[in-house]
Amino acid sequence: MSDPAYDLVVIGAGPGGYVAAIRASQLGMKVACVDKRAALGGVCLNVGCIPSKVLLHSSERYQDAKERLADHGIRFSGLELDLGAMMARKEKVVADLTKGIEFLLDKNKIDRVVGAATIVAPGEVSVARDDGATETLTTRNILIATGSESSTLEGVEVDEKRIVSSTGALSLESVPEKLIVIGAGVIGLELGSVWSRLGAEVTVVEYLDHILPGMDREISRQAQRVFKRQGLEFRLSQKVTSASVRGQGVQLMVEPVAGGDAEELAADVVLLAIGRRPYTEGLGLGELGVTLDERGFIEVDDRFETRVPGIYAIGDCIPGPMLAHKAGEEASICAEILAGQSGHIDYDRVPGVVYTWPEIASVGKTEEALKEQGVSYKVGKFPFSANSRGRTTGDTDGVVKILADATTDRVLGVHILGPLAGDLIAEAVIAMEFGASAEDIARTCHAHPSMGEAMGEAALAIAGRAIHI
Ligand code: FAD
Ligand code: NAI
Repeated sequence: MSDPAYDLVVIGAGPGGYVAAIRASQLGMKVACVDKRAALGGVCLNVGCIPSKVLLHSSERYQDAKERLADHGIRFSGLELDLGAMMARKEKVVADLTKGIEFLLDKNKIDRVVGAATIVAPGEVSVARDDGATETLTTRNILIATGSESSTLEGVEVDEKRIVSSTGALSLESVPEKLIVIGAGVIGLELGSVWSRLGAEVTVVEYLDHILPGMDREISRQAQRVFKRQGLEFRLSQKVTSASVRGQGVQLMVEPVAGGDAEELAADVVLLAIGRRPYTEGLGLGELGVTLDERGFIEVDDRFETRVPGIYAIGDCIPGPMLAHKAGEEASICAEILAGQSGHIDYDRVPGVVYTWPEIASVGKTEEALKEQGVSYKVGKFPFSANSRGRTTGDTDGVVKILADATTDRVLGVHILGPLAGDLIAEAVIAMEFGASAEDIARTCHAHPSMGEAMGEAALAIAGRAIHI
């Protein structure tokens, strides 16, 4: 048999797929990267991380101008929202970044194939192109990085106009008067914040009795209080049983999870954000023997290899946090393993960030997890109201909370609600990667005045010796 054309064919060009393609090429492999979207970058770049962060930033600037800058002695007259221009800027940022990835793939001599891929057999990928033609790629190894899609809810039909998923919510043509969000998770809070800042009345309906499941409970409680003050209304322990478009609006039926009377709610737009599920449709996995777990995630071993030798998977389509940087980490490690190197990812060191304002960031164990595992721990906390940089900018909501082992002082988890929490968490991740103790952080010199000082003070608080509180 003749040699295959490629060492690696990657299916999916999201932050998992394109990073794996580049790393494999750096390591000397001949690589092709297939995606059915013409634009590279997957969900993250096209309809996820990037457009949502653009709108979060723009809407924050609008709210600053509307509500906060007067405090600084800056007043406006005739302030206007130009939603069209805001959306156009978002599109431009996405398009520029997409072109950036195109440049990187070219630079690394990766063949780009646009079309829907099916794995015919180990070592053989067939690609159905938009123009009807089919192309067959032969390869030593195949990497599946096909990502995820929004979960659906029975009785709630998404039309991306009145009843939208995150994709529709990133491109509304006007600010809805009333927006109801189903799900108080990351998407619900980020996109709920965007539209609330732009003027919508936002109600978030959540099945559980708390927001942001999986986050440290003390932090999620504090965050809820702050969001409530910002104008978000929360209806916790409620389930939506149906939503139907009526004229220009949507009618929702909601009932208490514990049982009780159903209630009808009305909205102009409803955002369904109840989680995401792995996307593996059309790959032909069943016939190949690649197995899925009960939630539809592809099962892989610690080398990211599926049950079928030579077929690997990474990113949102395998278990673990559904985050772009997790997909990217797995991508590099998987490429290195394919090149004969070793690699390992510690999922306890993958940070999570919610880009609301204040931001919420977390790494490692929550207090609830430590209790459940019977680990004895110490807590150190420091509020941003006592942080001088927070005072100078007026960002005094929130707290840094560090959890350390009661005996060894090793840092086990860090949870931050506060300004720039998404950047501050990097210090905690590095500390944990190096097996730092809380004292190591406490003895690290933090610049003054900086938000980072709150991290140093929270670490000092573990030993009961914070200075500024
Ligand atoms: P994806 O990005 O989903 O890419 C998969 C690609 O595979 C797609 O382009 C798809 O077209 C292609 N594909 C699928 N099947 C086939 C096939 N058969 N043939 C060819 N191509 C195929 N994460 C963060 O870390 N930070 C954030 O701020 C953040 N914000 C988000 C905001 C929103 C609104 C959403 C929805 C998600 C957000 N995420 C964020 C999550 C992040 O987008 C995902 O974790 C990430 O995109 C997963 O990367 P991936 O490479 O596994 O898959
Ligand atoms: P999520 O899992 O974060 O939150 C979903 C919420 O919906 C949960 O609170 C859940 O209890 C609730 N829910 C589930 N079923 C419900 C029902 N029937 N009625 C009412 N509430 C219900 O999922 P979300 O927000 O859709 O985001 C999906 C994923 O996308 C995230 O988990 C994350 O991995 C990724 N993402 C990451 C971002 C970031 O890193 N900043 C931003 C946006 C998304």
